[in-house]
Amino acid sequence: MHILVTGGAGYIGSHTIIELIEAGHSVVAIDNLVNSSKESLKRVGEIVGQEIPFYEVDIRDREGLEKVFASNKFDCAIHFAGLKAVGESVTHPWEYYENNIGGTLVLVDVMRKHGCKNIIFSSSATVYGNPAMIPITEECPKGHCTNPYGQTKSMLEEILTDLHTADVKNADPNPWNIVLLRYFNPIGAHPSGRIGENPNGIPNNLMPYITQVAVGKLAKLHVFGDDYDTHDGTGVRDYIHVMDLANGHVKALTAIEKKCGVAIYNLGTGNGYSVLDIVNTFSEVNGVEIPYQIDPRRLGDIATCYADPAKANRELGWKAERGLAEMCRDSWNWQKNNPNGY
Ligand code: NAD
Ligand code: WQD
Repeated sequence: MHILVTGGAGYIGSHTIIELIEAGHSVVAIDNLVNSSKESLKRVGEIVGQEIPFYEVDIRDREGLEKVFASNKFDCAIHFAGLKAVGESVTHPWEYYENNIGGTLVLVDVMRKHGCKNIIFSSSATVYGNPAMIPITEECPKGHCTNPYGQTKSMLEEILTDLHTADVKNADPNPWNIVLLRYFNPIGAHPSGRIGENPNGIPNNLMPYITQVAVGKLAKLHVFGDDYDTHDGTGVRDYIHVMDLANGHVKALTAIEKKCGVAIYNLGTGNGYSVLDIVNTFSEVNGVEIPYQIDPRRLGDIATCYADPAKANRELGWKAERGLAEMCRDSWNWQKNNPNGY
């Protein structure tokens, strides 16, 4: 298939492009580089042995998108482009709604004008809020998102679903096919250590914070709370290797090929690990001590969140294959080889 990858220079997009090309697909990446650099795509090109066609385009820029569609006939878009910092979304909600929702509205409008009505969307486990069940199946009702970032994911799921529903009602002969992928907590990096997660400023997420402590850029980890109802009191999450996540997108294309209508899949491992599990495994696997102190809970955090990934396994034949040791090893391999990122 010929795939448009929005946000292709970012963390998950760049890893997914490798898996797409290795599975025999062709890609065009677009990105406005607000949270990434062209260097990631240059390195992806070196890994796969071919240059990645790239347009520096903002998804809110209709004319820019039109130019990309004028010279490509896409079978599907994999839509990663968006702002993703939870805390920033609380202080800058307008920017998040305008970029994530406004941008997606322009993207899908240009897509439908060009007859491409297949999209795989990067959603998030955050749409479950404080989940009503553990492990979380796709049947779990969506919960209250405590921040505008999460709201954009939840709203975009509804907006995209409405597009398909309208097509069915209108007996459109070419209805939308929409795959909503709810990612759990992606960590790790390509095993080459050439590409990885490259956050701006002080990381908000656990693994990049740990790797920056390990490389000496930050003094110690702050563990947000040790009084949760979990096996050691620290928060439990479903960490998934970014290469497994990337492969989930390749498998999601099979749902598009089967004209799935709207299909929702959790992409997680099904295993829950605590903050201290991650710290201890990282230290053991990499032989690096991670000094830490226990701090109060972070506002908006929940105790436990992990997936039941059985649906993706059953319907897409997808399963996460890499364990926590490999995730910790690859995260560190990336960070130690690229202490200052791209
Ligand atoms: P990322 O920031 O590394 O990648 C997103 C890319 O989109 C960046 O390269 C950024 O420059 C680009 N972008 C942002 N706004 C754009 C716009 N208007 N036009 C064009 N490009 C734009 O983030 P990521 O971790 O790779 O996340 C990819 C997607 O997955 C995002 O939609 C994110 O919300 C979602 N997601 C991420 C996580 C996670 O923990 N990383 C979890 C769940 C969902
Ligand atoms: C993991 C655990 C923290 C940092 C967020 C978004 C979610 C999704 C993934 C996009 C928690 C603890 C963290 C630190 C810590 N993104 N922690 N010290 O909060 O599960 O999910 O990223 O969709 O929407 O909310 O991930 O990596 O921030 O935290 O103790 O410095 O690590 O309390 O238990 P989270 P995270």
